[in-house]
Order: sequence, then C-alpha cells, then structure tokens
Amino acid sequence: MTDAKPKPFIAGNWKMNGLKASAGELVQVMAGYAPALRAKVDLAICPPATQLIPFALAALGSRVAIGAQDCHAKASGAHTGDLSAEMIADTGASHVIVGHSERRTDHAETDAIVRAKAEAAWRAGLVAILCIGETEAERRGGTTLSVVDTQLEGSVPDGASAANLVIAYEPVWAIGTGLVPSNEDIAEVHAHIRQRLVARFGAEGEGMRILYGGSVKPSNAGEILRIENVDGALVGGASLKAADFLGIAAAYA
Ligand code: 13P
Repeated sequence: MTDAKPKPFIAGNWKMNGLKASAGELVQVMAGYAPALRAKVDLAICPPATQLIPFALAALGSRVAIGAQDCHAKASGAHTGDLSAEMIADTGASHVIVGHSERRTDHAETDAIVRAKAEAAWRAGLVAILCIGETEAERRGGTTLSVVDTQLEGSVPDGASAANLVIAYEPVWAIGTGLVPSNEDIAEVHAHIRQRLVARFGAEGEGMRILYGGSVKPSNAGEILRIENVDGALVGGASLKAADFLGIAAAYA
C-alpha cells in the first residue's frame, strides 16, 4: 500500500460481557451492515472467548469480522486458562486485540509481552489490534506523546504492515468514563502516531489504521471520526447494543 487513505474500521470490544443470548446483537449488526455501509467502513466484533466459535460461525459470509480480546504469545503448551493465537484463528476469528490497557493493568502486561502477542497473532494469520494510550497522570504531566512513543517502540514488532496491524489509541482516562480528549488533543496524538509509523515503516505506515478508543458513542462519533488520522474507533460499552454500534458506524454513511 502506498498513499491510499486507510478504509475506516470500527471494532467493538465487548470485554467481559455477553452470554449466549447476546448473539442477537450480532445478528442485528449483520442485518444493518448494508452494502452501502460495507463499502465505506469495515466492522468487527470482539466478543468474550466463550462466544468466539458461535459468533465466527454466525458471521461467516457477512463481512463482519470477529476478533478475540487477547492471546498468549506461545502456540501451545502448559498455560492454564490461556488461548493461543492459533486457537483463535481455529475458531474462524480474524482479529485479536493485544495490549489493551485493562490487560496491561490487570495482568501486568509489558510492552515486550504485547509485542510477543502481536507476533503470535501474525504467526497465526490474525490481524493485531494493538492498544496504546496514556494514563490520566501521564496526560496531566504532559508526557502523553513520549508515553505513546515508548509503547509504539516497545509493543509494535518489526514486520508490521497495513494489512496485519491496527493501532488503537485509547487514553486510559477516557475508557468507560464518558470523558473524551478535545478534538485538538486527539488530532495531535494521532498525527504523532502516524508520523512515528511512517518513520519506522515508510509508506506502509500511511495505510495503517489508527483507531481512537474511549467513550465513543453515536452522539460523539461523527465529530471524532472526522478528525484527521482517525481511521475508525475501538468501542467498548456502546458496542454491546447493535443500534449504538451501527449508530457509530453510520458516521461514515
Ligand atoms: P468504552 O468505549 O466503554 O469507553 O471502552 C473503550 C475501550 O476500552 C475499547 O477497547
């Protein structure tokens, strides 16, 4: 890929939400993903691991991609409770989120671990949705851009391409709080990420999608998704209801 602007991508991260009964939401998303919308935006849903197989089966042929929320770096072995990228690919899923701030915090995932997970995703043929973002203290301390630099350098493996990597910029303080950075702040960080990706990966970096995540909802999606270098969104809470998720995607309609 050279100078083509990336096709927008909206991914829903269901986190630890969703039982069998929530499959209806996926059905509604697929029903609302009409050809005109498909032409403009790619969609993915990342349900909990328990729903990967039914969701991947249900989504076959729909063009809604299914992703997992984490993977182990190894392909197999004695790692109780973990799922390998190969297992995720085996369900029919095509994407995996790595390095979400909740995993970095709850499971002490370092940049090196996240990097290994992204490499595992590629080994299994999955697209890695790799999350970075500053804490509230880092934002207040004025270190946002250097935090993002460290995370990009430490977490993104060599060999990244527009096809195998999606970056999600998610300020930790904006996740699930209803707080959103100003448009100027989002624009600044996304432009910075773009510049870093291009510096490291050349023209390929122009095509890599950089999603914004953190309290995205239908009412603010239009404004956020218009910002330069924002190529879509990683959506938590508002992705649990098909109407809200489609309402966000409709910003591109
Ligand atoms: P919310 O959209 O609920 O703020 O979550 C964002 C997020 O963490 C997506 O990965």
